[in-house]
Amino acid sequence: MKLNTVFVEALRLAAGPGAKLYLGGDELELFGRDETEDLFFAADAAVQPAEREAVARIVRLAWEHGVPVTARGGGTGLSGGALPVRGGIVLGLDLLDRILEIDRDNMIVRVEPGVITQNLQEAVEAAGLFYPPDPASRGSCTMGGNLAENAGGPRAVKYGVTSDWVLGLEVVLADGSIVHTGSACRKDVTGYDMTHLFVGSEGTLGIITEATLRLIPYPSARALLLAAFPGLQEGLDGVLSVFRRVTPSVCEFLESAALEAAARHLGRPVPVPGAGSYVLLEVDGDGEEVVEAEMLSAGEALDRAGATEIVVAQNPRQTEELWALRRAAGEAVKALSTYKEEDCVVPRARIADLVRGVKEIARKHGITTICYGHAGDGNIHVNVLRMDADERSWEVGLPRAVEEIFRLTVSLGGTISGEHGIGYSQRRYLSIRMSQREIELHRTIKAALDPRGILNPGKIFPE
Ligand code: LAC
Ligand code: ZN
Repeated sequence: MKLNTVFVEALRLAAGPGAKLYLGGDELELFGRDETEDLFFAADAAVQPAEREAVARIVRLAWEHGVPVTARGGGTGLSGGALPVRGGIVLGLDLLDRILEIDRDNMIVRVEPGVITQNLQEAVEAAGLFYPPDPASRGSCTMGGNLAENAGGPRAVKYGVTSDWVLGLEVVLADGSIVHTGSACRKDVTGYDMTHLFVGSEGTLGIITEATLRLIPYPSARALLLAAFPGLQEGLDGVLSVFRRVTPSVCEFLESAALEAAARHLGRPVPVPGAGSYVLLEVDGDGEEVVEAEMLSAGEALDRAGATEIVVAQNPRQTEELWALRRAAGEAVKALSTYKEEDCVVPRARIADLVRGVKEIARKHGITTICYGHAGDGNIHVNVLRMDADERSWEVGLPRAVEEIFRLTVSLGGTISGEHGIGYSQRRYLSIRMSQREIELHRTIKAALDPRGILNPGKIFPE
């Protein structure tokens, strides 16, 4: 789609004072990528408004001219949700990065979409409050992106995902009108639960310009350990046995190749080398004693499951080192080779079946997989890596293997994305998880909210 000069001038005007407009060159190209594989789609223009009102003006203009608008936050997405697959305008919301209010009495925070997740966490923490969702990219992802994709992260196992913290939204609809959903109240059944329709809708139903989030008191104590296991099964058994005793705030599983890749990526040693798998476990709560007792109980469970070594972080530096390794896993694994990542989730007790099945599928197709992720909530990131596979076996084997992995996941009572979204890269697999009638229902909602199909077209739905 080529934008004519009249449209571009109208766009410049709509973007308002302080906005950045990109019409070509390397800078525009950046808006055509995110962190999903090596995908690239060219946008015709990208705009980053500096005032909130501009979002409605820009969307209205696009609506009038039938131009696609793809909202974008930090560009850290892993399913291509922010890629302008049909061209048009990328609407970068990252300059709208104000924390509008931290209300200590009501324990809520109001944010604009461009606020970096970690900045929000640190700001509320300074007020003694806690916003738990913590995607691995929390240092560079934005709240708008977290809301659009319903991001999760390690702490979801105890605290839930982004949607569990949202009370209300301001949303710009496809025609540029502005609506409010929910409220600052903890309870609100006035009408449909529109808030949770927009959260996770990947920018296809509306563009979130403000969110009201609930907060809780910041837990006064926490402790972290890394347990090493001889094989995959023992580590996954360990995960299950922990939950019979305590609810950890984090329960991550990494097969050894993931932790080793992360260590190499950061130029650091592997904390307990030579294991088959690892569990990173955090307990938090109110008071050192409570946390210590729970940590002891969790450690015992891991020990009985066959842990060969358990390292408890003794100070903030060690804690940060273990976290850095975990957070680097995604990037490190991807740096190994061309890859495709699946964001499988199953009920917690089925993760061992999932991982075992994935390994069997990989063997059958002669491909390499590295699994790691939020095992405590049954969410495993299955990375399928090309490594030294020849062109043909990769081209043919990959889609078959992915399809089999998803079919296995669904047969175990699971689903094909837990926190990364369907976006662009997983849409062709949607029917593995949803019936035709269910997909149709989604299409009906999309058509009702965006009859001209301008908001993030080419996403979620199979062609
Ligand atoms: C993680 C990202 C990939 O858990 O979701 O590291
Ligand atoms: Zn994750």
